[in-house]
Amino acid sequence: MKKETTYLWWQTGVVYQIYPRSYQDSNQDGLGDLAGIIQRLDYLSGTLGVDAIWLSPFYPSPMADFGYDVADYENVDPMFGSLEDFDRLVAEAHRRNLRLIIDFVPNHTSDQHPWFLESRSSRDNPKRDWYFWRDAKPDGSLPNNWLSLFGGKAWEYDEKTRQYYLHIFLKEQPDLNWRNPEVKAAMLGALRFWMERGVDGFRLDVAHFIMKDPELRDNPPNPDIANAEFTAGEYPSQLHIHDIAHPDVHKVFREIRQLLDSYSQDQPRYSVGEIHLFDWKEWAKYYGEKLDELHMPFNFAFIRRTPWNPKAIRAVVEEIEKAVPPGAWPNYVMGNHDEPRLASRFGKEQVRVAAMLLLTLRGTPTLYQGDELGMENVEIPLDKQKDPFGLRVPGSGRDLCRTPMQWTGAENAGFSSAGVETWLPVSPKYKAENVAVELQDPSSVLNLYRRLLALRKTTPALNRGSYRTTGETTDECLSFIREAEGRTILITLNFTGKEVLPHTAMSGKGDILLSTRLDLTGTVSLNTLALRPHEGLILELEA
Ligand code: NOJ
Repeated sequence: MKKETTYLWWQTGVVYQIYPRSYQDSNQDGLGDLAGIIQRLDYLSGTLGVDAIWLSPFYPSPMADFGYDVADYENVDPMFGSLEDFDRLVAEAHRRNLRLIIDFVPNHTSDQHPWFLESRSSRDNPKRDWYFWRDAKPDGSLPNNWLSLFGGKAWEYDEKTRQYYLHIFLKEQPDLNWRNPEVKAAMLGALRFWMERGVDGFRLDVAHFIMKDPELRDNPPNPDIANAEFTAGEYPSQLHIHDIAHPDVHKVFREIRQLLDSYSQDQPRYSVGEIHLFDWKEWAKYYGEKLDELHMPFNFAFIRRTPWNPKAIRAVVEEIEKAVPPGAWPNYVMGNHDEPRLASRFGKEQVRVAAMLLLTLRGTPTLYQGDELGMENVEIPLDKQKDPFGLRVPGSGRDLCRTPMQWTGAENAGFSSAGVETWLPVSPKYKAENVAVELQDPSSVLNLYRRLLALRKTTPALNRGSYRTTGETTDECLSFIREAEGRTILITLNFTGKEVLPHTAMSGKGDILLSTRLDLTGTVSLNTLALRPHEGLILELEA
């Protein structure tokens, strides 16, 4: 008898990222908080219909990098609430069958973390080696040529102990030394702490940065700067082969996986790594040779790498399909709290095609808050900008996608009460683009997301089925088939502003399950099928 494959929640489900500062302000201080998120769980599980939420950091932090500078891995910053609020969030999420993934920041702490304060206090402090402290070179120059991703050099001089410490991000974010067994034990302890509080998984911030060359050798120059992932500032001038992703990182991930597995008997836990790699063979190694490392490395192919056209998209999806090891699970991401909004990258009309693509490909989709409304980048005047990256490296600002969530047409968009000054300004478009208005409009982007999520949830072919491209991929259209349990679903997408014939190479009839315009049903003949401008269709093929 054929063994039934069982699928886990993080495989068949859809993840939704929340940036807690900007989701819902429950105490009118202009900042979102955990109690606010709890108020919105019915929206997430009921109205929208996602399966899991990932929270960006809510830990105590001086907020130099808005929480990615953690001062205590086992607590909640008072601006977001308390551990009691967190426990309530876990319970309320689980009551609605929503899983909770939290951000974990392993590469660096805050410079205000007690570990770093101890470490910097003297050269012989027992925690000195928890971070990277080095002398200047004999000629007085920096210990090596490494650069900070956020601009400038990666070394900061400390007057008191007359050595430099390493920070790949801000100088307020010193890098932890994971080769020190005490560091590893402390960090694994923090993972345990949250699993015991009930979290279902972790998103590991810049996961592969945690292991560096043991000799901290200089990086070589980059001969191909134009193709570097981060193109702003000095950072792309080097090949980052010694400061990140030393192969020893795989051993650490195996240990993390073992720990997660030891907590997975009754509650399958999950890990996803923020790993910006585009050599898919290299990228796939993070699943582990025996699928014993991360459950998934995030796949950022659709962020900055792939031009928005059918041929490029087809090529990348097929590469991913080939690269994902047997038994491992793919995933796709289009937006997050570091990236320009989908509507601003692909255009207001293509946003619907993007939604349909993301929610019909094989693998776990991760959505970013507000993209379900079709939100665009919000231009923030310089005197109101907050992101340290943007303030240091012009053109890299991330405030534009971090503005408050738009719930209603009331002043402050229902994020904060009227009269409150929100931490970043609310988009000027909030009156037309908000949850309340879009729920009333049967053809809104929000209603498209709701329909796509519902269809994905109830259609095994979409949430677990096989993938294959079909027909001719032109400059205009991409079509593919998802299949499971004897049902065949055709997805066909028009990337242009004109009516086109998709050339799906399919004949017979198809039942329209969904159009990105939300206005079509019925049965069509596949060889005469035409797509309207910027339209995507999901059809079930007649058996
Ligand atoms: C990646 C995070 O997504 C980003 O927001 C943060 O600034 C850096 N890592 C540093 O932690």
